[in-house]
Amino acid sequence: MARAYNFCAGPAMLPEEVLLKVRSELSDYASSGMSVMEISHRSAAFKDILSEAEERLRRLAAIPEDYCVLFIQGGASLQFPMVPMNLGKGAYVVTGRWAAKAFEAAKLQGRGEAFAGSADRNFEYIPKIDPAEIPRDAVFVHICDNNTLYGTRFFKPPETGGKPLVSDMSSCILSAPLDVGKYGLIYAGAQKNIGPAGLCVVIMKKALIPESLPDSVPVMLRYRTYFEHGSLYNTPPTFSVYVANLVFRWLEEKGGLAAMEELNREKAKLLYNAIDESALYLNKVSPRDRSLMNVPFRLRNRDLEPLFVSEAEKRGLMNLKGHWSIGGIRASIYNAMPVEGVKALVEFMREFEKKHI
Ligand SMILES: Cc1ncc(COP(=O)(O)O)c(C=O)c1O
Repeated sequence: MARAYNFCAGPAMLPEEVLLKVRSELSDYASSGMSVMEISHRSAAFKDILSEAEERLRRLAAIPEDYCVLFIQGGASLQFPMVPMNLGKGAYVVTGRWAAKAFEAAKLQGRGEAFAGSADRNFEYIPKIDPAEIPRDAVFVHICDNNTLYGTRFFKPPETGGKPLVSDMSSCILSAPLDVGKYGLIYAGAQKNIGPAGLCVVIMKKALIPESLPDSVPVMLRYRTYFEHGSLYNTPPTFSVYVANLVFRWLEEKGGLAAMEELNREKAKLLYNAIDESALYLNKVSPRDRSLMNVPFRLRNRDLEPLFVSEAEKRGLMNLKGHWSIGGIRASIYNAMPVEGVKALVEFMREFEKKHI
């Protein structure tokens, strides 16, 4: 069967070249007679994979020397409590469901205050951040750079009056060049633009890693544990790290993040144009705030949405149903989605509109 165009928000499409490489060495990694899933995380072979993954990521995202790269389990959701546990009180910008979850996790510890957000208009925009409104006792500002459900994104990192900026980049990491120096800590669940679920990448200014924490903070929830053990304190998600390394290599071969941004802009433009020019589809996000990765939209006749999704599936355009909490349609077009996939979707949308309007 031909590969489908998978528009899932995550776990999402992986580059076919990467999948084929995985298949070719799945049962015998580097002539070891063993799968990469079967080798020790302390073996030289795995340590090479881990260090190669870090080096490639550093090159791709131009990560400065005073930042560390940590490979942590628990998805992006574990970072929600881990960030305030390690850094202290945060000032939160609530621009969607994930940002709200991050804030709630901090609040539970008495370490979160929301000072800006976009709930008033259904999360359909990115609010202006006034540094004067950041709570004084907060030691960091938290944003979600790209809001996976609502299809909004920060056009540029907000001013924080000198406080470190912490960003959940789960759904936009590596989609465009990144100015790491503008952030104190970046985290991203892998299952969209990096590799298989089970891994979360943290890029963190070393100076932010606390020297000591109360004894009540478990070892596995301290950034220092991962930093001092080179992400090998316990068994990391070895297969996910291995695939991430292959995805990083694929990104380098494709010309890096600037080339990715160009492609991502092209894909997003095709799709937003198709929506804006139509009498059937509707996306209410203001153009500047529109995500390049997640494009949610509604059909003006909402009753047609289930039919839209099922007809699309017959064409191999999969997982277009919007998030269960908001409904509608959502096309996630991460790095691995080829331009052809978006063109196929746009063609289908135009045909569907002709038939049903
Ligand atoms: C922006 C964002 N943050 C966090 C998460 C949660 O990630 P995880 O399932 O890895 O905990 C998601 C998942 O889709 C997301 O899109």
